[in-house]
Amino acid sequence: MSPEASADASPDAEDANVIGRRRFLRWVSGIGSAVIGILVGVPVIRSFLSPALGKTKPSRWIKVAEDIALIDLGVPVRAGFVQDESDAWVEAQVEEAVWLYTDDGEKFKAYNSHCTHLGCSYGYDKASNTFLCPCHRGQFDVKTGAVLAGPPPRPLDTLPVEIRDSAVFVDYTNFRPGVPQKVSA
Ligand code: FES
Repeated sequence: MSPEASADASPDAEDANVIGRRRFLRWVSGIGSAVIGILVGVPVIRSFLSPALGKTKPSRWIKVAEDIALIDLGVPVRAGFVQDESDAWVEAQVEEAVWLYTDDGEKFKAYNSHCTHLGCSYGYDKASNTFLCPCHRGQFDVKTGAVLAGPPPRPLDTLPVEIRDSAVFVDYTNFRPGVPQKVSA
């Protein structure tokens, strides 16, 4: 190769090298930006979405009575407990209750303690042997939860009950008040 040819080829080769390096750097920088975007963006998006969408409901089986032998027959018993509640952002402890009822000490009914009309707490009225809601005078049958009087649109909300080693457990759920269907709140 003549010295002129070598002198002519070198600048072109250098230009090609420079262009190749620039392309490579642009490519690397593009990939790097995309990776950084994913690394930063995914946790941020998850932090916004996961409290609202990502949480699975914890099990709500709650021990509401230690010993079935201590529960009177034919008389409703109110059993209170503290429940961990969380909406999308806030976790709190809330006092809740169920009403337990048994005729024979073997089969138990558990009612959510919120009236199905507008969610007030109702009580047991010994004189009439019914549940009475003080808010709008709703009245319910203690054995079945059926509405006997007043504006409640559906019977009391029953809850699944299990007896484990003589203790009473209830699968606790709140339901939407004011509607005829039993729909989880
Ligand atoms: S909230 Fe119970 S009757 Fe209205």
